[in-house]
Amino acid sequence: MKTEHAPTIRRTDYQPLAWTVEAVDLYFTLDATATVVRNRMRCRRQGTGPLVLMAEGLERLSLTIDGAPAETVRETDTGLEIDLPDDADEAVVEVVTRCDPSANTELSGLYHSGGGLYTQCEAEGFRRITAYPDRPDVMARFTVTLEADKAAFPVLLSNGNLVDSGDLADGRHFAKWDDPFLKPSYLFALVAADLVVLERRETTRSGREVLLQVWVEDGNLDRAGHAMDSLVHSMRWDEATFGLELDLDRYMIVAVSDFNMGAMENKGLNLFNAKFVLAKPETATDVDYEHIESVVAHEYFHNWTGNRVTCRDWFQLTLKEGLTVFRDQQFSADMLAAAGGESARAVKRIEDVRVLRTAQFPEDAGPMAHPIRPDEYQAIDNFYTATVYEKGAEVIRMLHTLLGAEGFRNGMDLYFSYHDGQAVTCDDFVEAMSEANGVDLDQFMRWYSQRGTPRLRAEGRFDAAARQYTLTLTQVRPDGDAPLHIPVALGLIGPKGADLPLTLAGEAVGTVTTRLVELKDTTTTLVFEGIDAEPVPSLLRGFSAPVILELEEDDRRLAFRMAHDSDPFNRWDAAQRYMLRVILAMSADAAKGELPQVPEPFMSAFGALLHNEKLDPAYRAVALTLPAEAYLLEQMSPADPVALRRALIVLMRHLGERLADSWLGLDTRLAVAGDYRYHPADAGRRALRSLGLRYLCAAGVSQGVERALARATGESHMTDRFGALAALVNSPASAEAAIALADFERRFAKDALVMDKWFAIQAGAWRWIDSAQPALARIEALMGHPAFSLSNPNKIYALFGAYFRANPAEFHRADGAGYRFWADRIRDLNGRNPQVASRMARVLENWRRLTPALQSAAQAQIKALLADKALSADVREVLEKALG
Ligand code: PHE
Ligand code: ZN
Repeated sequence: MKTEHAPTIRRTDYQPLAWTVEAVDLYFTLDATATVVRNRMRCRRQGTGPLVLMAEGLERLSLTIDGAPAETVRETDTGLEIDLPDDADEAVVEVVTRCDPSANTELSGLYHSGGGLYTQCEAEGFRRITAYPDRPDVMARFTVTLEADKAAFPVLLSNGNLVDSGDLADGRHFAKWDDPFLKPSYLFALVAADLVVLERRETTRSGREVLLQVWVEDGNLDRAGHAMDSLVHSMRWDEATFGLELDLDRYMIVAVSDFNMGAMENKGLNLFNAKFVLAKPETATDVDYEHIESVVAHEYFHNWTGNRVTCRDWFQLTLKEGLTVFRDQQFSADMLAAAGGESARAVKRIEDVRVLRTAQFPEDAGPMAHPIRPDEYQAIDNFYTATVYEKGAEVIRMLHTLLGAEGFRNGMDLYFSYHDGQAVTCDDFVEAMSEANGVDLDQFMRWYSQRGTPRLRAEGRFDAAARQYTLTLTQVRPDGDAPLHIPVALGLIGPKGADLPLTLAGEAVGTVTTRLVELKDTTTTLVFEGIDAEPVPSLLRGFSAPVILELEEDDRRLAFRMAHDSDPFNRWDAAQRYMLRVILAMSADAAKGELPQVPEPFMSAFGALLHNEKLDPAYRAVALTLPAEAYLLEQMSPADPVALRRALIVLMRHLGERLADSWLGLDTRLAVAGDYRYHPADAGRRALRSLGLRYLCAAGVSQGVERALARATGESHMTDRFGALAALVNSPASAEAAIALADFERRFAKDALVMDKWFAIQAGAWRWIDSAQPALARIEALMGHPAFSLSNPNKIYALFGAYFRANPAEFHRADGAGYRFWADRIRDLNGRNPQVASRMARVLENWRRLTPALQSAAQAQIKALLADKALSADVREVLEKALG
């Protein structure tokens, strides 16, 4: 582990290496505690200077150049430098090293999990396997031979095609793999484990037969089907939408229990966190099914956007991530719309924006704020962020909006025709889009260096005499003045609730009711003609740009848009804005020690949505869900988590009590008959029923509590069971919650993935706030549970992550005990797994927004942590930035 203060790496310092690798042949003698890697590289000169190899934590056994022992080798902070003769253009370098997978608790490089051996190389893990120019701009042809004990490691997988395999002496065997495509080292992978496989053969659009495999641990084959279906759907979608085909004969997905992230797109051999592969109705919720589908698609789509065309350097990360998130979002939206209609597509957009606002907006407003293409970093692992991924996807979406589906497709085609097989930059991508469409995107490029969420101020003025409505839109950039190129979709709603046709001054009378306006100046004024009565503007329809809209709207207007906005996204957003306003006012009362009041007009607007049977249940479920607590906290100044929680408890109780009959009625009416199937229509009904139980249980309505207990402990599938359990744990009915938790534990004690849900639901539970046992005491006790493990990232995220992020009122305790617990966890995790530690460290980065008392308690813990010399570069970067 690197513990010293890491240097800052800058984007503008990029230099090609003097020596690259054209082909590499790897021979692994695999063993859980001592793996030997023989690495033979054919290197080629492309500039002046030594051959640079990165290496980390490796024991070097030998090093030869063109068959002779290497002489001029220098050790550096990051590995080795080797001087080669000035007149040499080519060299065969062979290096043999040893590493210990069982000691690799960081889960980067080659590591041991559940008896098997697995790799994770992005971003800089390959250098922990062998000495190599471990950068994405070094693209080589890989051949890999794996040799291992056959009984312990019966399955041997690597990238590409299997070209040879067989038995060796002493119970050992081998497999040789050849990847026909050039690739950077971060896409290398191997698996040596005892696994079983689900297989399917498919024919690609051009008629090639391909073998698809999902590898899982024995006993999990009945949970692999949904991942396989998702893979086939992804293949078909990419063929139909972008004309992109699977390019290998074999495509493998492997589920692994210990994994830092969600999944990894290694060429032809995707490694997945098991939670994004395994699903059956008894163990996985609708949300899990949806996530699996989108993560499988995401990794599959990387095969073109990421692998065939990769990043020149890690500053370009959003080139592959923003684009691939956009692609997986479009895929999921199309899948949902095919099964559940356009309303299902709108729900998907709402969910995506909810993630953006909850995770990315706070990041962009805090000390870790960075452009989607960062300018500098210390630890690259810290930059797999919501900004690079989610905001990056919004930037690509804006291009799609500006160019249209066809123009975007043309741009993609041109991008691949220019750059297939290359490692390129974000500029290369945008240039292809620009050239294919004959449009100037220079101003649009500013999105790549823009930091902080831009604001869009809107003001409307109605002139009855002139029958004109004037809309003034002003953009405010937090990081400078140069205006951005912003697509704004907008409409005007007439007094009766119908959209008005939009005619701009000087135009012939139009019929279009939603228009796309391209803002390029700081201020843009739009004059709409033929307007007879003051309209209500509906701006940024579909969330056409990742900005904060500032528009004065009173409660009446918000209620009006909640009832009439024809844009489903904006209708939802109106409800969110109204909820935000009500909750902030209630929290202010709570902070003063007063009893928060729920305004009557809000109750009617909420009730009207609930009772609107024309709206799909799935849509009503998202529309009636309160904004995430983390998002609300971000809007509060100072952020007072306990006051916010009091307000939420009162509001939830009120909505449950007053609307009890409606929730109960709908719970009966919307019950889904028959066996579980993953389908948006069924999922929507289940989501709305579970939401109803949440409100009912929050209010302690006895019929609701009874139904929740029956559903949580009866014979149902996981979606209903977990929905009911989630309702009970936030209920004053703590006896019923305890019964349900115990029942759940009994049923699933041996199922690690399901137990993650059990840990998380308790760590995030509200009500312990009023009971004798605060959340923290429960969490400390749960750390001793036999199903808990400090070496498994999913467990860390479930128990600690849910406490830190999903339970702010309990975490930000006035006595500082939450922060002390946090600091102890970071200290401990730092030594085991810096990437996981650093993610957990980030939960306090916005500490300056808290109330003064909380600020000083948080600051003290951050300072104490920073005094620790053993702190990893990952954690140090986060905490130093937090302290500012
Ligand atoms: N590249 C992976 C993805 O987005 C994420 C990842 C990054 C996984 C780093 C592991 C390590 O699909
Ligand atoms: Zn990705």
